[in-house]
Amino acid sequence: MPHDRINWQRIRVGCRYVEKYLVEGLLSAYKFNHSPLKPLEVFCEITYKCNLKCPTCFRWTTVEDRDELGLEDWKAAISKLEKWVGTFNLFVSGGEPFLRDDMIEIIKFASGLGITVSVVSNGSLIDKTLAKRIVSSGLFGLTLSLNSMNPKTHNETRGTAGSFDEVMRAIENLRERGKMRLNIAATVMAENINDLVGLAEFVKKEGLDSINYQPLMPASAIPILDEKGNPKKLPPGKFYQTLGREPEAVKEVFTRLKRMRENGYPINNMPKHMAYMVRYLQNQEDPEVVKYPCKIGPKNFVIDPFGNVRICPMMEPIGNIRDDLPQAFWNSDKALEQRENIRGCKEPCRLFTCNFKELDLWYQLKKMYMRG
Ligand SMILES: C[S@@+](CC[C@H](N)C(=O)[O-])C[C@H]1O[C@@H](n2cnc3c(N)ncnc32)[C@H](O)[C@@H]1O
Ligand code: SF4
Ligand code: SF4
Repeated sequence: MPHDRINWQRIRVGCRYVEKYLVEGLLSAYKFNHSPLKPLEVFCEITYKCNLKCPTCFRWTTVEDRDELGLEDWKAAISKLEKWVGTFNLFVSGGEPFLRDDMIEIIKFASGLGITVSVVSNGSLIDKTLAKRIVSSGLFGLTLSLNSMNPKTHNETRGTAGSFDEVMRAIENLRERGKMRLNIAATVMAENINDLVGLAEFVKKEGLDSINYQPLMPASAIPILDEKGNPKKLPPGKFYQTLGREPEAVKEVFTRLKRMRENGYPINNMPKHMAYMVRYLQNQEDPEVVKYPCKIGPKNFVIDPFGNVRICPMMEPIGNIRDDLPQAFWNSDKALEQRENIRGCKEPCRLFTCNFKELDLWYQLKKMYMRG
């Protein structure tokens, strides 16, 4: 593996993970239901505004809100976290993050503090100029959402004509990307189940770094807020209602994807996650799926566009990063009570990849070697 592919920042976070999280953390966290740890992964929902109209997600219905954190607020929030936590992984999502004029500034600021920053985007705004700015911002990884290599299916599931061409243009514009990782995220539903293999083939052929399959959730799993700041009640969405339509295809496709992963395709999902996805996509009420616990309690730290911090995106905020120090509410009574509720929660977002993050050393080593 060439020296420049070694990301020391990543390795430092990894070592902290083993030391703090696995060894001293999990046991005490589950036993005492508090987290003596500090979050290693922080998710920023940087804006709820969006320029696509995906029928699986209602973020695009958000109205303009002047109360969103500004550039200086985000810098202050990131600094507070860095002082408390040290280095960590910062995942930026939305809405569409690149609708913010200051997105590049935010990435530069966090990367400059030694934080590993990743962004997920719909790719629509990444022209040549923005691509260059992204690559030189210090961003660790960019994930573009792509649901199918069939333009019609992608555009329909993104609610926007021309979206497929825009993602392809973004990938082309990011051909020269130095050390930055470029990944694909595909949301799995009945409508694209037969396109998943083609997506993995595309990722490998184009030399992209990985593909992650995320099972479709009811739209309420990507909450937006009502006027009072509470999560809005959302209908599940029409594509969600067709889940379970193709049980045999689901099994066949994931058996193939598992084999492709074994043969060096850069598919992120662990085999265990794939097995649970198959059950879920065939039948959301599958008893094995229902039993699988949500493990986010001791580790999740989600900041919404207004600075509210949550452990679970669907629960009440435990504090606001604008007003408070994160260490003041991380182990507050409210946080402890929510961690108790999280352990018994049966909402389907337990099936998101972040709830299946386990060490898969063999696969990671093989991936590094093949990329080498
Ligand atoms: C909410 S979007 C935000 C980032 C950006 N706007 C984008 O689409 O990439 C994050 C991811 O959620 C996916 N997504 C949308 N609706 C979903 C649903 N109902 N269930 C699971 N994932 C969903 C999107 O395809 C995208 O990969
Ligand atoms: S999934 Fe992403 S692109 Fe689609 S509406 Fe939601 S935030 Fe926008
Ligand atoms: S499964 Fe986890 S993330 Fe989803 S609503 Fe329940 S506690 Fe929150």
